[in-house]
Amino acid sequence: MSGRLPDWIATPQKDVEPKPLTRNGVSSLVKKEEVMSETTPLDLRERGPQTHVDPSSIPLDEIDVSDIGLWTSDTFWGYFERLRKEAPVHYCADSEFGPYWSVTTFNDIVYVEKNPEIFSSEPNVTIVDPPPEALTKGAGFISMDGMRHDEHRKVVQPVSSPRNLKHLEPLVRERVIEILDGLPTDEEFDWVDRVSIELTTGMLATMFDFSWKDRRKLTFWSDMMTASPVQLAAMGKTQDDRRAALLECLDVFTKLWDERKDKQTDKLDFVTALANADATQDIDPITYLGTLILLIVGGNDTTRNSISGGVLALNENPAEYDKLRNDPSLIPNMVNEIIRWQTPLAHMRRTATQDTELGGKAIKKGDKIVMWYVSANRDETAIDRANEFLIDRENSKQHLSFGWGGHFCMGSRMAEMQLRVLWEECIKRFRKVEGVADPVRVPSNFVKGIQELRVRVQPW
Ligand code: HEM
Repeated sequence: MSGRLPDWIATPQKDVEPKPLTRNGVSSLVKKEEVMSETTPLDLRERGPQTHVDPSSIPLDEIDVSDIGLWTSDTFWGYFERLRKEAPVHYCADSEFGPYWSVTTFNDIVYVEKNPEIFSSEPNVTIVDPPPEALTKGAGFISMDGMRHDEHRKVVQPVSSPRNLKHLEPLVRERVIEILDGLPTDEEFDWVDRVSIELTTGMLATMFDFSWKDRRKLTFWSDMMTASPVQLAAMGKTQDDRRAALLECLDVFTKLWDERKDKQTDKLDFVTALANADATQDIDPITYLGTLILLIVGGNDTTRNSISGGVLALNENPAEYDKLRNDPSLIPNMVNEIIRWQTPLAHMRRTATQDTELGGKAIKKGDKIVMWYVSANRDETAIDRANEFLIDRENSKQHLSFGWGGHFCMGSRMAEMQLRVLWEECIKRFRKVEGVADPVRVPSNFVKGIQELRVRVQPW
């Protein structure tokens, strides 16, 4: 590793605060007044002008699907349905995140993903605009294009290769069994904390070859990176605590880098891979931190929310739960359907590198293009009965939850394997994981997730 930390992370800033990741994806620095709206209590944000109203009552050009209230209240669906029909490529001139285009259909998103020279992943892949000194500058390879992206991705990809996954599966099963057998059968509990987080954090620890006893540190750093100011305050933390957490994460992982560099080993973990590959030898600390954030958050929130989302989907569709009980061989197919249905990342963003046309609309160089996977996954023109949750659907892999093309999710097989093993073991033990309260949703238009899901398990 070479270079030093830029001042903005090394020393606390006075007039800027990091804008959070669960709010919208990737931290960036914004002026204090820009975050003020984020401190509005959640219950008030849920009652914004678009929330709980008929989507057809709002003028088309005033629709703003980025409005966080729509996401906390799960009321964005009608807006996307309308956009797919009336304006599949839609311009929102004024939003909390500035002007942006929404791309809402399956085929248009695939077109954008297939043309990275027109629609670039730099400087950022979420709706938030990173200012010049942003944390995302030089961040992980998800926000790089071309050769540099390919080289960095190649370094860590073997960790999630089918060969390594085969090797890891028995360990995942062992952990799943331990988690499920430790669940209380006579009281309600939070599935997110006891199962979703526990399983995905354990998997992350393995992929980083991280201290097992300290594994919840990974969850802590991930949460600190992604928490909105509202969530930070709820955790009793400040922006300076967040900065301190990022520095601690970098410090711990720099020590691991030094320990593992030039050591002969047949172990496959992210840090050993990064420390010993030619392409990442001169990586600067901030790009290293960005890559760590990408790997921690990428593999954490997403899989966690698929695990919780599956329980919710089966509860909301009892006939599908029956199908599962009657035929557990449907599980691999069901896993694809859960990931489509949940769409754990609601969007990815691109930036136009030139004037171009998309869906008959004139796009200008520099315009922000938001690909709403959550909408494309319900696009009836591309997916048969897209608005139904069907665990035995044909072509269940026809979805955009993992994106498409050069940036297609690197951990997709890893996520699918964890979900498959979890449901295989779950259905052996419990005839039902019963939801007993409404889920608490993550206040974000990027991480489409569930913060809390109270359940009771019913053994056979
Ligand atoms: C259900 C779980 C998951 C979902 C829904 C998901 C979704 C995504 C999406 C939408 C992208 C961007 C694709 C694009 O821009 O076209 C992505 C990229 C990525 N994901 Fe995942 N992901 C999941 C699990 C994981 C796991 C377990 C890891 C493991 C560390 C991981 C690591 C990554 C990485 C490294 C990238 C960047 C790939 C690149 O830029 O080349 N993901 N993921």
